[in-house]
Amino acid sequence: MALYSETVMDHFRNPRNVGVLDDADGVGEVGNAKCGDIMKIYLKIEDNVIVDVKFETFGCGSAIASSSMATEMIKGKPVAEALALSNKAVAEALDGLPAHKMHCSVLAEEAIKAAIEDYCTKNGIPFDTLRPEGE
Ligand code: FES
Repeated sequence: MALYSETVMDHFRNPRNVGVLDDADGVGEVGNAKCGDIMKIYLKIEDNVIVDVKFETFGCGSAIASSSMATEMIKGKPVAEALALSNKAVAEALDGLPAHKMHCSVLAEEAIKAAIEDYCTKNGIPFDTLRPEGE
């Protein structure tokens, strides 16, 4: 069996939403404790909805594919829904990632959360009010 699904290879070869948003409302940058790779997410938010999103990464192919998929999954969604996106949901949407590459998908999840936190801080919105129940 191939190590990577067709969906992973597609998002790796043709990543969606790569780049920078100069007028971003929230920016999040995180590093991966396991490999030291870096991910940056830019969010444009209007009326509590993510109207645009871009990412830049110094991560591996799995990080690129996960971020590409994650940005597609949150575009057009309410902020609270984006905050609830888990790396497991992203990996599932990619038709799976090898177990030793799951940590790469955490980068996207954490960078999205950091960007939303930045947006909240800049706009005086209490971050905790957006968190899904129980987190
Ligand atoms: Fe670092 Fe995948 S090995 S993000």
